[in-house]
Amino acid sequence: MANGRERFKRMKATREPVVMLTCYDYPTAVLEDEAGVDVIFVGDSVGTNVLGYSSETEVTMADMLHHLRAVRRGVSKAYLLVDMPHGSYATTEAARRNAEAFIAAGADGVKLEGGYDQVPVVRELAAAGIEVCGHIGFTPQTLGSKGRVQGKSSEQARELIDSALALADAGVFMLVLELVTEQVAAMVTARVPIPTIGIGSGRFCDGQVLVVNDVLGMTPSARRLHKRYTEWRDTAGGAIRRYVDDVRTHHFPTEENAFPTDREELARLEEMLAAAR
Ligand code: KIV
Repeated sequence: MANGRERFKRMKATREPVVMLTCYDYPTAVLEDEAGVDVIFVGDSVGTNVLGYSSETEVTMADMLHHLRAVRRGVSKAYLLVDMPHGSYATTEAARRNAEAFIAAGADGVKLEGGYDQVPVVRELAAAGIEVCGHIGFTPQTLGSKGRVQGKSSEQARELIDSALALADAGVFMLVLELVTEQVAAMVTARVPIPTIGIGSGRFCDGQVLVVNDVLGMTPSARRLHKRYTEWRDTAGGAIRRYVDDVRTHHFPTEENAFPTDREELARLEEMLAAAR
């Protein structure tokens, strides 16, 4: 479903919140799509949340393409957005080649991090007809994995507002604001014609995004910017411990889990084996 630009602009105009959630695999994509998530997002957070990397900067194009294809198979209604990994948009030529590879693999649009410095890349992709989502505020690919709130000083806030305007003017159709103070996120939201999607940026963005592993309670601990809706580590961990215990204590498998050979075949088999002795 490309053409996110018109759809999400309408949602901003009618103040309908845009719901975005990260996703890295097929079964979760099916659940997110069925639940009505508007934007299913294959983030480079796949690196730290799924692949066991210590930083987003380790994520490659091959990693992203692999997870994008799995998610694509599970999405039929939502807009499918994919993150451009670190280094994949270092030049406008690389950005275009890599963004085209994502679109060919089934993405509806791509996201990249950065402010003014990314204006030429956004222009190049927009001119090629590729929908681009911006990402400013805390940007893990350049600032590291440990989040720090952005926009606290008036200078930094001004720079965020100017970057947002420059990116919107260059052609982004949506803008993620990560860890921006609530007031500055509201100011950006009021000034740009495209929807802003907050993560740790307060109540007044046009939409919200969270990392699905946080929503499901898969990450080790809660942080202020997240809301955990279940504790996967307890439910899944408990189930795995019960399985281990059942096998060790001979409670699994039971007769109901087994597939018997019928009696006549078994008798014939025994005769065969006896004759071969
Ligand atoms: O990769 C990711 O999960 C992100 C979100 C924080 C928006 O970029």
